Amino acid sequence: MPLMSENTPLFSADLVSQSVVSQLPENYTCRPLQASDYESGFLDVLRVLTTVGDISEDKFLEQFDWMQKRGDYYILVICDGDKKVVGTGALMVERKFIHTLGSVGHIEDIAVAKDQQGKKLGLRIIQALDYVAEKVGCYKCILDCSEANEGFYVKCGFKRAGLQMAHYY
Ligand code: ACO
Repeated sequence: MPLMSENTPLFSADLVSQSVVSQLPENYTCRPLQASDYESGFLDVLRVLTTVGDISEDKFLEQFDWMQKRGDYYILVICDGDKKVVGTGALMVERKFIHTLGSVGHIEDIAVAKDQQGKKLGLRIIQALDYVAEKVGCYKCILDCSEANEGFYVKCGFKRAGLQMAHYY
């Protein structure tokens, strides 16, 4: 198992927008994913989105360590007053040669626990990821979603652009 303390954050907490934090429901927090989140309900929140599988703590920490070393993964969580993870979202930053060595943010894996939906937590997650993306120098953020979620992303300030293609292996 990689050596790290349980509250090792995936990225600097300085990148968490204080304006977003101030708009959360009382006693809720927004912070980077940390090593101890294996125990905090993070994987269960992701299960709202899709299958996660059976992941051991060792494998979770190995993946966390790998992402932390790369330095271009920004996974945020929102916790309720009991410190339970109730929402999450990820930003991956892709460096390019075009646009004068520009960076593009990819927003992925947005999920809010079923019993916490409708409290603007999804919106706060996107605002927090947008803040990180701007701070680290991205010129845009893109994401893929279903038609059913288009309205949510429009409310978050996104607009339909392009067409997704996929090749599954
Ligand atoms: N369609 C249209 N509008 C929506 C939808 C939707 N599916 N979901 C929320 N909204 C609206 C809300 O009504 C609200 O509008 P208002 O400001 O006028 O009141 C606004 O969007 C913000 O809604 P939130 O309360 O922040 O939404 P919530 O916290 O429930 O999170 C989310 C939305 C993330 C889609 C949640 O329902 C969820 O986890 N769904 C299951 C997982 C999922 O589909 N995730 C997105 C996958 S796409 C990706 O990851 C890139």
